[in-house]
Amino acid sequence: MEELRSAERADEPEVTSPAAGGLPAPPPSLDRARSLPHEKVPSVLTRLDMGEVSPTKGFVRSTSLPSEQEQYEECEEGRRRRRTSSVDGVEVARITEERAEETEEGSLSIRVWCAFVRAMGWGVWVVIATNCVSTAGYLLSALWIGHWPELSEQMGTTDALLVYALISFSIVVFTAMRLLVFQYSSLRLSRNMHQKALWAVIRSPMAWHDTTPTGRVVNRFSSDLQKVDTDLQNNVVGLLRSMFDMLASFLVVLFVVPLIFVVVVPTLAAYFWIQKLYRKSGREIQRMASKSYSPIYQGVDEAINGVATIRAYEKQQYFSGRTAARVSRSVRLDLTLQGCQRWLGFRLKMLGACISSMVALLVVLHAYLGPLGRSISGPAAGVALRYAQQLSNALESILNNLTSTEQCLVAVERLTTYSEMPDEGELETQEALSSVEGSVRFENVFMRYRPELPTVLKGLTFSIPGGSSLGVVGRTGAGKSSLLQALFRMCPIESGTIHLYGKDVSGLGLHTLRKALAIIPQDPVGFTGTVRFNLDPFMQNDDTRIWGELEKVQLKAHFEAKAEGLGFMVTAGGENLSVGQRQLLCCARALIRGARILVLDEATASVDFTTDALIQQVLRKEVETQQLTTITIAHRISTILGADRVLVMEEGQAAEFGPTQDLAATPTSKFAALVTAAQAAEKRKKNAI
Ligand SMILES: Nc1ncnc2c1ncn2[C@@H]1O[C@H](COP(=O)(O)OP(=O)(O)OP(=O)(O)O)[C@@H](O)[C@H]1O
Ligand SMILES: [Mg+2]
Repeated sequence: MEELRSAERADEPEVTSPAAGGLPAPPPSLDRARSLPHEKVPSVLTRLDMGEVSPTKGFVRSTSLPSEQEQYEECEEGRRRRRTSSVDGVEVARITEERAEETEEGSLSIRVWCAFVRAMGWGVWVVIATNCVSTAGYLLSALWIGHWPELSEQMGTTDALLVYALISFSIVVFTAMRLLVFQYSSLRLSRNMHQKALWAVIRSPMAWHDTTPTGRVVNRFSSDLQKVDTDLQNNVVGLLRSMFDMLASFLVVLFVVPLIFVVVVPTLAAYFWIQKLYRKSGREIQRMASKSYSPIYQGVDEAINGVATIRAYEKQQYFSGRTAARVSRSVRLDLTLQGCQRWLGFRLKMLGACISSMVALLVVLHAYLGPLGRSISGPAAGVALRYAQQLSNALESILNNLTSTEQCLVAVERLTTYSEMPDEGELETQEALSSVEGSVRFENVFMRYRPELPTVLKGLTFSIPGGSSLGVVGRTGAGKSSLLQALFRMCPIESGTIHLYGKDVSGLGLHTLRKALAIIPQDPVGFTGTVRFNLDPFMQNDDTRIWGELEKVQLKAHFEAKAEGLGFMVTAGGENLSVGQRQLLCCARALIRGARILVLDEATASVDFTTDALIQQVLRKEVETQQLTTITIAHRISTILGADRVLVMEEGQAAEFGPTQDLAATPTSKFAALVTAAQAAEKRKKNAI
């Protein structure tokens, strides 16, 4: 990503040159977009490798909307290039994940069927048992009707009717029982699948989140889960029902017309052959169709997040064309699947018609078949014909339901893959952080984000005592934020040790570790909900404390002026607050947690000098009164001049580390050079004004 950003910057002169066919200079809002952390930069800026932006010619304004096919091919071409790209590690990793998804092919593994049966629990067995009983009831009722003349003669019509009514009633009871138990088990299955997959996603390592497009996750939690919620239940109910129906009908027809055996065997072989052909392609098309939704969700998500950039570069047509191409691809797959289903339906109907006509023929011919035949009474012939129809319907329904169940099990398979992902580590351990002093020590720490990526921390070593403050400076990409990733164990370190309160963090539970730390991030995050919820989501503090923290960050007056007070609703992402206010809110949120170690990653980069000074003042007071340990990453040198120590980072290492005043006073130090450069820049700015 970083390479893409630099490539994009390198392109700027040509991009802004209308003579070169490029767009006019982007509006200031775009500069803000560029200054966002790379994971937030709207995707259009990262599209250099996808074909729509030429690295040599800049943006080429399209005069007409490319055809759907062109748009799609463009996307695919971009994807292919990304597959072969080994420059940008992020993309390489993404492709690894995509490939893993593509390898799910062939028949569904027994593991998926087992996962399904396990998740359904005892309900499956109850459903099978009740099915057996109700099928026996159906059989009995058919035979009862088949022998009605003899039975009504022997028992009397009323008694025969009574027995028939009893049989029918028991069928109703067992059918109702079967449906109830099945609904209950299905509900449990959906809930289990959802909870397991959701928990696995929440607990998965950051590397997984970095490399998995949101659209893919949304797809699994929407259309895949919906299949498990509704379609799967209906298909399994239908499958079990039709299997028992088939068995019952076959036995009835066989009982009345034994010669049907000769017809049924080759017909079953034909059924088997047809279903084999269909299931193979149906399953794979279903897999492709399931996957085809992910880029659609992804595209919508990208377009919403990057709407300002898309408008600035006038790429609306490209994005809508791309979405249309993706939708079209998905619809094509759905239509293909439906075509396959029609193909199957036609053949099954033909075979069904074959069975029914053969039964009718055999019923008529039976009397003439010599030793093989016997005369069939009128009611028995009626029963045989009715059940022959049911037999062909049941066979058709088995195949339909089996293939649909398999297609729904593709969704189970996809959700099971999520549930089985490795998590990021234990949450709670015996080890606890009891000391009040938040000392931090890094010893020769090496870290890389993923095995295929280069090392970003290369033997980082420093140590600060509890209750002190550390300022971290360094060029973009020096590894400052990576230091925090390692401290929070967002990304596991390769070697070296990190000690917090004198304890090795690798032995701590993630909850224990993260509770001891509070962060004010570069990109302030507001949650949809009240101010109270934003500050204290777990409702552990009373209003007085919350107002107290708001007062510290000088936001009390702002919210007091609102009629709702702490009940003021913050909209999604905190959009109805200014960036500075959001930053102050995050600051209050961090302070209210009462963690001993406070970390600021460029927390004041997007606020004015006054707000910056205010935040620094608040923090200094907290540090003094509560002996907090603070680690402040800042590009603005003035922000960290008051810190006890300074760490200058270069290429993942500590280039300099020591007391701030000492380093600033050493003319040959890198930090002194940074201070001088910052002062000169400040002077230039003042002169320009
Ligand atoms: N999630 C990630 N996945 C892969 N590589 C990453 C990730 N985050 C950062 N990097 C890489 O790690 C290196 C150090 O990045 P880091 O974010 O730590 O730099 P930084 O010093 O905080 O820069 P800045 O001042 O711009 O915030 C960079 O080369 C970057 O590309
Ligand atoms: Mg950073």
